[in-house]
Amino acid sequence: MIDSCQTTLEQWNQNVRPGVVLGAGPTIGKLVDLPGVVVAGTPRQAVARIQKDLREFQEKNKLDQIIVVNASSTEPVFTTDDRHSTIAKFTAALDQPDLIPASSMYAWAALELGVPYVNFTPSLGASFPAALELCEQKKTCTTGKDGKTGETLMKTVLAPMFKHRHLEILSWVGHNIFGNRDGIILDDPVNKASKIQTKDQVISGIVGYKPNTLVTIEYIPSLDDWKTAWNHIHYRGFLNTKMILQFIWQGCDSILAAPLLARRGPLHAACPAPRRDGDASAAGVLLQKPVWATTITIFSCSTPSSKRTRRSAKLLAKGAAASGAGKTCKNRTPSPGGNASASVQGRKHFHCFYEAIC
Ligand SMILES: NC(=O)c1ccc[n+]([C@@H]2O[C@H](COP(=O)([O-])OP(=O)(O)OC[C@H]3O[C@@H](n4cnc5c(N)ncnc54)[C@H](O)[C@@H]3O)[C@@H](O)[C@H]2O)c1
Repeated sequence: MIDSCQTTLEQWNQNVRPGVVLGAGPTIGKLVDLPGVVVAGTPRQAVARIQKDLREFQEKNKLDQIIVVNASSTEPVFTTDDRHSTIAKFTAALDQPDLIPASSMYAWAALELGVPYVNFTPSLGASFPAALELCEQKKTCTTGKDGKTGETLMKTVLAPMFKHRHLEILSWVGHNIFGNRDGIILDDPVNKASKIQTKDQVISGIVGYKPNTLVTIEYIPSLDDWKTAWNHIHYRGFLNTKMILQFIWQGCDSILAAPLLARRGPLHAACPAPRRDGDASAAGVLLQKPVWATTITIFSCSTPSSKRTRRSAKLLAKGAAASGAGKTCKNRTPSPGGNASASVQGRKHFHCFYEAIC
């Protein structure tokens, strides 16, 4: 399959532009090998440069809509402050080099152009108040943080089961090993802290209390693109009896991630105007930390005035049904953290659509 796509892939490669690593931290800075990558300057300059690239890309390829997806290396944890609280304060501070990490420069550049922004990484991206305000003002979409492809996917499937069976989770330990370039970056403790943060908040967000949790991530070069996650869940059942569930997840990182990234785009196209009251977007259910994480109401993304939106949603639903998506998906109760749950209202094809992506 890769061979038959080779020519197209080479054409797409022509679109690649040097990026921005300003504010991305020293470990990511070491990866820079393209001339023209923005390593210094101000966020304002970087945003202007990204917007120019985006406009040129859209015009050159005659595209009706573009979507920005951040699949770059995990940045260190970034703490926001008052400068990030409103659009006005944020734009006034755009000349301060320490204002935001690179992931957020891409986010701001996209949202300001009215382009949806998907953050597949644990980096800050658009997860700060001014960016969410901008998103609303421009009537566009953003999702949250970090793709759910392995261990965390399992957590968001298993944790509701414990909750609904009233099995109290006492501790949940997850040890992860993997060997690709993402592993090299996550070997740096400050970058690793971002990933551990998104992985670790998932269970308490679902069950509503904080069990004792531990997440470790170690870089083992010989594993290449394969990851192994061993999880040990200690829980309590009837008559206070303590029991244990263990699982081992072994998967190929890129093979797990690629279909999600490919699906995220159409989801955004079907969801042009999310609301802050929880309609982050359908794509949020694919993430470890969905934004505005309360309820994801896929149906209300489709307004009667938007024929195109309804058509794309129908097409997606058709695809979902064809791929064996469940027909029994019922309304679900949102969890406090918003993980793995969505309240789906409206027509049946939206139910199928949800089932296909969770
Ligand atoms: N299964 C998965 O692969 C998976 C699941 C969830 C989240 N993620 C996240 O997706 C991201 C990518 O993972 P990967 O395995 O593809 O990593 P990778 O190291 O193979 O690729 C990351 C690429 O981003 C580039 N990059 C770094 N900073 C950049 C910047 N500021 N601008 C432009 N390019 C930049 C790097 O040069 C590198 O080519 C990571 O943050 C990872 O945590 C991956």
